[in-house]
Amino acid sequence: MEEQRPMRVAIAGLGTVGTGVIRLLDTNRELIMRRAGRPIEVCAISARDRYKDRGVDISRFVWVDDMMELVRREDIDVVIELVGGSDGPALALARAALGAGKPLVTANKAMLAHHGLDLALLAESAGIPLKYEAAVAGGIPVIKGLREGAAANEISRVYGILNGTCNYILTTMEKEGRDFDEVLREAQELGFAEADPTFDIDGIDAAHKLAILASLAFGTQIDFDAVDITGIRDVQAFDIREAAALGYRIRLVGIHPMMVPQQHPLSHVDGSLNAIVAEGNFVGRLFFQGAGAGAGPTASAVVADLIDIARDEYGDPFAMQVGHLVAQPKADTGTHVGRTYLRFIVRDKPGVLAEIAAAMRDAGVSIESVIQRGASEDGSVLLVVVTHDSAERAIAQTLDQLRGADSMLAKPMVMHILD
Ligand SMILES: NC(=O)c1ccc[n+]([C@@H]2O[C@H](COP(=O)([O-])OP(=O)(O)OC[C@H]3O[C@@H](n4cnc5c(N)ncnc54)[C@H](OP(=O)(O)O)[C@@H]3O)[C@@H](O)[C@H]2O)c1
Repeated sequence: MEEQRPMRVAIAGLGTVGTGVIRLLDTNRELIMRRAGRPIEVCAISARDRYKDRGVDISRFVWVDDMMELVRREDIDVVIELVGGSDGPALALARAALGAGKPLVTANKAMLAHHGLDLALLAESAGIPLKYEAAVAGGIPVIKGLREGAAANEISRVYGILNGTCNYILTTMEKEGRDFDEVLREAQELGFAEADPTFDIDGIDAAHKLAILASLAFGTQIDFDAVDITGIRDVQAFDIREAAALGYRIRLVGIHPMMVPQQHPLSHVDGSLNAIVAEGNFVGRLFFQGAGAGAGPTASAVVADLIDIARDEYGDPFAMQVGHLVAQPKADTGTHVGRTYLRFIVRDKPGVLAEIAAAMRDAGVSIESVIQRGASEDGSVLLVVVTHDSAERAIAQTLDQLRGADSMLAKPMVMHILD
């Protein structure tokens, strides 16, 4: 076989993912060379602390303090951005690399959710790749799956479990019957959750990924501000128990906690795994599942992008030219219709159920079932109402009517039921 010129890459950011990429390229070097048709070699690297022990030998690479230098070097074919952050140095590097005509690989969902279209335009006008498989659901090849495998389909729905930390917390609460705060604390001690868990548990990380997936699936312009986020902070152990009694499991589906029927494949996604469901008009339901984070899975996705570039196989980052992506007005979620789980903690006194039923009647919401759990020591009663199909606006009207009522001891919990 004729010796091919190596593809020379530079890595900015040598944390979990960056060092994972170096390890993967070392371990699978021969195989990758055969698959890519030429060797892929790391040439230069950059991070903040040159002297940090990273558990991999980096002395063989050129170190640059200023990561912009990676863009200026002529011996570099591809820049890999693994720094993170929606703006700041990561965005400056991405813009500079694409502006200088260097292909870019990134795992940075925050940056893509906020600046994906601008970056795609830069790549498009330079005729070079912008690849980001690792940015959505880590090791799962869902970007490739939607962008290429399902490209012939009109996609009607895309949804899934996009945050491993939330799924770990919810499934641990489910298995061990424990409360949210306690499981979150343990997840932080075990390294499954960040010291500042806001991005994960409030649904922001999942929203970044969903914004990217929605653009790819529906051919729309990415609009992060259109994503309406809930997160899992308000889910309690008794919600999980009530869900189980009704035949459901609670999962953060996209950016809202939802009741998932026990026979639906998403309800079987356990621990820190991710899964994505996409429904196409010819292919039917697709289900992707795997590790959504971690050094190995994320590096697997980054290097797959490098292999595509080495093979000269790439296309528009969002599956069509940016000019063909449609601007989508913010969806009116109030018109969404579905069954809903409403959980109330109320004072133990006569007439409370009638008060809730009246608010629902006034809003035009009809009740499918009601569960009442006896008074606890503090005199509160747990009431669970499952509605028939109702518009989200009607549910919101019900809750508005009950807000501030003397009988309500806590903010009601609302979860939609996945059909
Ligand atoms: N971790 C995952 O499982 C995962 C999964 C999917 C996607 N991602 C995405 O991959 C990216 C990297 O994540 P990570 O987990 O590898 O992060 P990380 O472990 O925190 O590593 C970040 C790296 O960037 C460097 N860095 C940060 N700020 C810098 C600056 N101002 N100038 C130069 N270098 C700077 C750090 O340098 P020092 O080491 O010298 O401090 C570090 O090496 C993020 O966009 C993340 O969202 C991560």
